[in-house]
Amino acid sequence: MTLYCLGSINADHVYAVPHLPAPGETLAATGLTRGLGGKGANQSVAAARAGARVVHIGAVGADGGWAVQRLAGFGVETDHIATCDAPTGHAIINVAPDGENAIVILPGANICQDPDRIAAALAGAGPGDTLLLQNETSHQAEAAALASARGLRVIYSAAPFALDALRAVLPHVSLVALNAVEAAQMRAALGSVGGAELVVTDGARGAVWHHGGQSLSVAAFPVVPVDTTGAGDCFIGSLAAALDRGLSRQDALRYAAAAAALQVTRPGTADAMPSRAQVEALLAGSLP
Ligand code: RIB
Repeated sequence: MTLYCLGSINADHVYAVPHLPAPGETLAATGLTRGLGGKGANQSVAAARAGARVVHIGAVGADGGWAVQRLAGFGVETDHIATCDAPTGHAIINVAPDGENAIVILPGANICQDPDRIAAALAGAGPGDTLLLQNETSHQAEAAALASARGLRVIYSAAPFALDALRAVLPHVSLVALNAVEAAQMRAALGSVGGAELVVTDGARGAVWHHGGQSLSVAAFPVVPVDTTGAGDCFIGSLAAALDRGLSRQDALRYAAAAAALQVTRPGTADAMPSRAQVEALLAGSLP
């Protein structure tokens, strides 16, 4: 089946810093790397590396051809990525020695999505297919409504957390994925995600899947992180790909946890997504 991902595409500028800067503090970075990022692009790459057929729906500026080529290089289908009259999305990411990060994004072309373009991209989609969404683009709610009317599984990562976006998308979503901070924000504002299923990731504490009054959990694989940027994206893209190939909820959780564990041991975001063979080697007990 096919995973469609309406999602952001960013140029990530990753600064290695001695600690995350405090308000008013000026810091000297010890290194800078640039690469492909954006929560949407990261999820598309994670799912493609996990073996799924992935169609990315998004937009870049005239300066974004390299990002489209990088996505295609990872096996992501890029025919539905438009070029808009805005700069390609951009992220400044500070990464501390313990792997923790702080991110500032400039959305740029990511908010130039167009409902007609989204509808055209989903024209051939149907039951068994999946739509992945996050909060770094425009028009998620329209895409979710269209996809759920067509019978797709809709997986929504409400990151960065935005209550209005969550409220608008929620009626059309099968599965909401939140980290622990976002889950606390959601519970304070809404209490629950209604009829949708909910996966909450909590870094080194693992993840829990709530569905139909039941909960499944998975422990995190013990690793020493060097960069946690994109770990949540890796988890969600890998989870979606695992469900797409028919794994149970429990097996999909385990696959996603293993993928995210490998991803945080590598620097970078999209470039750090592990292959299916690498994840399966970790699951089989032998590090690749
Ligand atoms: O989740 C990590 C991502 O958030 C980065 O790749 C950055 O581009 C921002 O979108």
